[in-house]
Amino acid sequence: MEITAVNQDVTKVKSDALLINLFEGVKQPGGATGAIDRALGGAISKLIESGEIKGKRGEITTVHVFGQIPSARVVVLGLGKREEFTADVIRRVLAEASRAIRGMGAKRYATILHGGGIAGLNAEACAQAIAEGAILGLYAFKKLGKPASDSPQVQAIEIVEGDKAKLASITKGIQAGKAIAESVCLARDMANMPANMMTPTDIAAQAQKVAKETGLAITVLNQKEMEKMGMGAILGVSKGSAQPPRFIVLKYMGDKANPKKVIGLVGKGVSFDTGGISLKPADGMGWMKTDMSGAATVIAAIRAIALLKPKANVVALAPCAENMPSSTAQKPGDVLTVMNGKTVEVDNTDAEGRLLLADALSYGNTIGLSPMIDVATLTGAIKTTFGSITTGVFTNHQITCDTLLKAAADAGEKAWQLPMHDEYKEQNKSDVADIKNSGGAGAGSITAALFLAEFAGKTPWVHLDIAGTARNESTKGYNPRGSTGVPVRTLVQFVLNAAE
Ligand code: BES
Ligand code: MN
Ligand code: ZN
Repeated sequence: MEITAVNQDVTKVKSDALLINLFEGVKQPGGATGAIDRALGGAISKLIESGEIKGKRGEITTVHVFGQIPSARVVVLGLGKREEFTADVIRRVLAEASRAIRGMGAKRYATILHGGGIAGLNAEACAQAIAEGAILGLYAFKKLGKPASDSPQVQAIEIVEGDKAKLASITKGIQAGKAIAESVCLARDMANMPANMMTPTDIAAQAQKVAKETGLAITVLNQKEMEKMGMGAILGVSKGSAQPPRFIVLKYMGDKANPKKVIGLVGKGVSFDTGGISLKPADGMGWMKTDMSGAATVIAAIRAIALLKPKANVVALAPCAENMPSSTAQKPGDVLTVMNGKTVEVDNTDAEGRLLLADALSYGNTIGLSPMIDVATLTGAIKTTFGSITTGVFTNHQITCDTLLKAAADAGEKAWQLPMHDEYKEQNKSDVADIKNSGGAGAGSITAALFLAEFAGKTPWVHLDIAGTARNESTKGYNPRGSTGVPVRTLVQFVLNAAE
């Protein structure tokens, strides 16, 4: 989609729809909304007076213009209460308004800079939130097999601003918003893809495409190379599958003066999780095609980072495998040796994500990544705790964790820290190996995090459990049904903040 900034008077703009706004409770619209109201002979203030327009958050009212202004129609968007207004409100209402405008058959629409100058938001942040809300809200996974549908699509958005001095900031915000939101959409596309079309090999091919597009350095380890490196845990998971595993390494060097300072982003890439011999129930198993969401989000995040070029170094690691039951599959009770030499008893073959991450975190340590942030659809238990709203956060280093939580808040992605008390470690004890991969009943997300901590070692590390937030069963604001692309925006913001 094309998004541009134009220096023009809103009453002169020609578009399929002109999007203006109103805060809740405002009786006499000012600014751009006031100018349009006057051009329409007071139509908007009359609708406010009659109670049809209240300005409630997400309220959408179409006002017909009968040739009084060049735009085909005006859409008044409710911004809600002024004191509750944030960049995330802009994203949410822009997503909803963009879908409504698409439903009107509009191919291009113009919008004012919602929130410009209000609630501490600068022009750049507003423009970024507009671009993100529109792109994220208009996202739709393209149906497979059908030729490109002729249902109407929004192809272009113009942000109209009368003050020429703001144009450069608006353009900068649009570019950042586009880079980030289009990367989120890439993560969504990868995770929404059926598992037969997004195997470990396909994930690696996507990563190659991203590398080619952005100039990132890439290495993809195949099974032989992984055997040589001693990645026994990933190999244990992939043993039951005809699909070979892949270990993807993408590298961005934006701070060449400090080549030893490298942030690690590590994403779980289980292309399909049947549970293995500890087979999952059939009901809802199809959603396990999204079990590579962690891998998709780190690949997408480093793509956005490569486009935004912050002064930081970042490596993304994506261990990818398919978890299948078969005569070659690993069995409960098997013992694996992780790359760092630790042995793991496979108590439950369905706890495969932590096995992939054990090798990946060990690998991250051998190449000196610090801090490391891992992202994984790791436990059903986190869904029980937080539903699909909040990502579970765990850490061995509070300062890094606080920085991550701040980045999540900046990005508008909800995240909350859970404890990792030593007492829970009891549950991971094995009779036959250093540790076992399932902590049994109770605190499943915490015991999983404590398992990972053994492989992060002394490196400052944060673990994000996205089993609840990676996908939505129904469309909510700028997150559509299916994959959400969470937490791409948090990861990108974390790196941008670190570069400052
Ligand atoms: N991929 C699942 C977790 C999951 C569950 C993600 C629901 C999305 C929605 C993970 O590999 C898994 O199966 N975890 C087990 C661990 C248990 C066997 C210790 C779980 O949570 O049941
Ligand atoms: Mn599993
Ligand atoms: Zn899994």
